Amino acid sequence: MNVLATFAYLVASVFFILGLKFLGSPKTARRGNLFGAFGMLLAVVVTLTDQRIIDTTYIIAGLIIGSAIGLLIARTVQMTAMPQMVALLNGLGGSASTLVAYAEYVRVPESTLEVLIPIILSVLIGSVTFTGSLIAWAKLQGVMRGAPVLYPYQKHLNGLGVGVVLVLGIMFALDPGQWYLLLIILVLALILGVTTVIPIGGADMPVVISLLNSYSGLAGATTGFVLSNNVLIISGALVGASGLILTNIMCKAMNRSLANVLFAGVGSDGGPSSSETVQQRTVIRYTPEDAATMLDSAQSVIIVPGYGLAVAQAQHVLHELANYLIERGTQVRYAIHPVAGRMPGHMNVLLAEANVPYDLLLEMDQINDDFQNTDVALVIGANDVVNPAARTKKDSPLYGMPILNVDYARSTIVLKRSLNPGFAGEDNELFYEKKTMMVFGDAKTTLTNLVQLVKQ
Ligand code: TAP
Repeated sequence: MNVLATFAYLVASVFFILGLKFLGSPKTARRGNLFGAFGMLLAVVVTLTDQRIIDTTYIIAGLIIGSAIGLLIARTVQMTAMPQMVALLNGLGGSASTLVAYAEYVRVPESTLEVLIPIILSVLIGSVTFTGSLIAWAKLQGVMRGAPVLYPYQKHLNGLGVGVVLVLGIMFALDPGQWYLLLIILVLALILGVTTVIPIGGADMPVVISLLNSYSGLAGATTGFVLSNNVLIISGALVGASGLILTNIMCKAMNRSLANVLFAGVGSDGGPSSSETVQQRTVIRYTPEDAATMLDSAQSVIIVPGYGLAVAQAQHVLHELANYLIERGTQVRYAIHPVAGRMPGHMNVLLAEANVPYDLLLEMDQINDDFQNTDVALVIGANDVVNPAARTKKDSPLYGMPILNVDYARSTIVLKRSLNPGFAGEDNELFYEKKTMMVFGDAKTTLTNLVQLVKQ
């Protein structure tokens, strides 16, 4: 590779690193995205102009078809379906790494150990990422039940599968002429992707998605070693490392260890459902007028957005309501739970779309102690992240996850359509508390009413 290409790869890598840095804050995230995209464009252009590429026909055809599909999906996918899309993109990243590594083996079967080991790792990690991501997609899309799928000796069988893959990997590295070994590794890895993700409960999907994201980066990095491509090694390592950091943040947000998320099958408890006890109880249905009166007299309000806000696409009207309250002298802030919504940073992105000022968005640790001195906690389409079962109910899939302390506020208004549970399937005692006002209905409709009423 010529010096110019190496230099361009270095520049691209600097753009990736700066991009990641800018992505660290909502204020600079757009710039971060642009930096990352520019770095990738540079890397792709340099790779395409690299002298080793003889025929670009297929590359250009792939580029056109891929870009067209990408553009269509980016324009049509709903904001609420973003997590599924991220899961699919992770899977495609993994499969691409597998295919490239496999093709490299087919191209040069008698490679050295330095190439064979990354080929094996790339095929292994890439394939696990591919099928694991498809299962994550199916769970998020509701195609598959969110509850963990458990069967006898599951961990042992998975452990055995990993062991067999390792042994086959060593055999293949020692004798790369046995082409079928790599094929068996590929098939076993595809199976392992399924069997390691199905036992993980839907409520733990935040961790799974960030972990698969990390895997896709690692698969890319190992493919970089296969191709001796520095920019692929660096970008893959960056994705791998940032995915791991995100996984750690998600584990902390749920107060669980990674091992517990991956192996404990949390959420599979078949014991008596709390809904049986709870459904017989009733709650008082409050009207938007009641909520408006409460907001009218409040001096401080903390807004807690959740997945339902994204479903209702009510971020703009919420911002309007908040603005109106602020103009009247009410202290208004937003409390953001790290796993609210369906993807890391979901609420930040949603509220940024409505131009909510970043300094009004406070993370759970920053605001949780303030609920007790707050007049109204306004919960909009959030459920699991405010469910007190996480504090008390040991058999709950949410148990141990820190929640936003909305029940400590002087009063709580909850906007949702029904008493249905949230993503984790756990009924919410908060709705039955005396100081909770349940206002049923689509969040956008209710908030639109509230804006009119508060203005009056
Ligand atoms: P959820 O617990 O999923 O609850 C959302 C609530 O929104 C539902 O109870 C639903 O109740 C309500 N809702 C839906 N559409 C609505 C609409 N149009 N108007 C008003 N309300 C509506 O949300 P959450 O509190 O944000 O918790 C997130 C959950 O997702 C956690 O369990 C988390 O672990 C999981 N998860 C998170 C991620 C990431 S990375 N953030 C990824 C995967 C899974 P009704 O049907 O009664 O309206």
